[in-house]
Amino acid sequence: ALSTTYAETQRDGGETHQVAGGDVATLTTANGHPVADDQNSLRQGARGPALIEDTHYREKMFHFDHERIPERVVHARGYGAHGFFELTDSLADVSRADVFQRVGERTPAFVRFSTVAGSKGSFDLARDVRGFAVKMYTQEGNWDLVGNNIPVFFIQDPIKFPDLVHSVKPEPDREFPQAASAHDNFWDFISLTPESFHMIMWTMSDRAIPRSFRTMEGFGVHTFRLVDAKGKSTFVKFHWKPKAGLQSVCWNEAVKINGADPDFHRRDLWDAINSGDFPEWQLGVQLFDEAFADKFDFDVLDATKLIPEEILPVRIVGRLVLDRVVDNFFAETEQVAFMTQNVPPGIDFSNDPLLQGRNFSYLDTQLKRLGGPNFTHIPINAPKCPMAHFQQDGHMAMRNPKGRVNYEPNSWGPFDGGPREDPARGFTSVATVEQEPKIRARPESFADHYSQARLFFTSQTPIEQKHIGDALVFELSKVERPDIRARTVSHLRNIDETLAATVADGLGLDLPKPAEAARPTMMDMPVS
Ligand code: HEM
Repeated sequence: ALSTTYAETQRDGGETHQVAGGDVATLTTANGHPVADDQNSLRQGARGPALIEDTHYREKMFHFDHERIPERVVHARGYGAHGFFELTDSLADVSRADVFQRVGERTPAFVRFSTVAGSKGSFDLARDVRGFAVKMYTQEGNWDLVGNNIPVFFIQDPIKFPDLVHSVKPEPDREFPQAASAHDNFWDFISLTPESFHMIMWTMSDRAIPRSFRTMEGFGVHTFRLVDAKGKSTFVKFHWKPKAGLQSVCWNEAVKINGADPDFHRRDLWDAINSGDFPEWQLGVQLFDEAFADKFDFDVLDATKLIPEEILPVRIVGRLVLDRVVDNFFAETEQVAFMTQNVPPGIDFSNDPLLQGRNFSYLDTQLKRLGGPNFTHIPINAPKCPMAHFQQDGHMAMRNPKGRVNYEPNSWGPFDGGPREDPARGFTSVATVEQEPKIRARPESFADHYSQARLFFTSQTPIEQKHIGDALVFELSKVERPDIRARTVSHLRNIDETLAATVADGLGLDLPKPAEAARPTMMDMPVS
């Protein structure tokens, strides 16, 4: 409610001064000095020059001048909320992760949804992948499941990520288009990167224009590992399933909503939580072992592939509920630092090259974005479990180790010597590497780029298929170079001939020859 308790005085020029007193706190500088006048800077005479001794003015302006930090290099526009994860089915038989042990236990969580390509001030209903990043503050450290609302990705090797992102962001000379995949550079890169076509089918589908954050699925995308107390590992793929069901808008709705309310998704989340209609998702897992993985023609380490739920059903093990909006957008949503490498003991990586590449990138980018190595001291990033280490100093250090000892091993006693390593509880990586030569090449098992694109397209209803065709025509019609349009359609011929013909027709193109497939595609996915 608006306060009406300020004592008000009018001063020279009619400006309103609201003064402290009673319950109303005294305004201070950041150094705690009470401020007498917040509206007039100190000058030498009423019409004279400003005085440098006005420390309040200087501090106020200095701080304002430094309010901006770099926006995220991708996923710049996002919206977050607090909640909890509750385990409903124990995974203790396959994982020693603390978060998976006790049914009914709640783990605090923070979630940030995002678009990928647009800048921080772009609109919500862009045709784009949505980020679905979950930080769970488990009792054995933070677990960040940094996922998307689409279960596969554009590329197989992380070395291509900077090129992918450069191609989808505004073009470097003209700095447009903003938040759109409708341009030459994007389709040029895509049409030269056949592995992206499965993801393209998803991004041209209604999945890329969700009705609400509350009606999106989420996916960890990569194959991860769960590790039990004896060190045995099981492959896992993570899924979030929205309680509100999966809903999207149509493209013409998206265009209108973007114009009328660019904050449509964030407003929807804010209103739902504040009205007590808490958004909820189920956490599901697909669990499998090496022998099961070996039955597929594709590779479970290839992030452009999924394991169909018909072949391996999703087992529901928990629920995620968002029940509290943030107190402050910048402090929480902007400063939260998700990192794929944040996994507690009992959860481990696979050799998916994209995941391995991400594990470097997130730590690196946070250093720059959050201004130094101490971003785990920011409350939204700090673990909520006991922690003790010898890391110290650096910009903004707020939690240096106490006492005389800041190294180990040391010979100070059990109380003075600080924390010690714990082989029983600590993270140990599952050994997976055979002795192999250094090589820059992709395995044959990563070579089929079209079968799952076809699987997705043919799984869609006729109206959904029409939307994919319409989206391709719309996006490609913004591409100026005819050769890029044709090269894209040549890939579509390897996915679905009718789709290719429809898109070619919509663009007024002669049907190009099919792109040369890396190898013959599988028509069915054998699981013997
Ligand atoms: C954000 C890198 C692939 C999901 C980011 C950021 C970087 C990055 C640098 C900005 C982080 C920040 O400033 O806080 C990469 C690289 C990838 C990759 C190098 C591949 C080689 C993926 C994939 C997914 C994904 C496959 C989904 C499974 C996200 C999400 C965010 C994000 C959700 C936003 C996190 C937030 O809300 O703060 N990524 N990414 N990324 N990435 Fe990736």
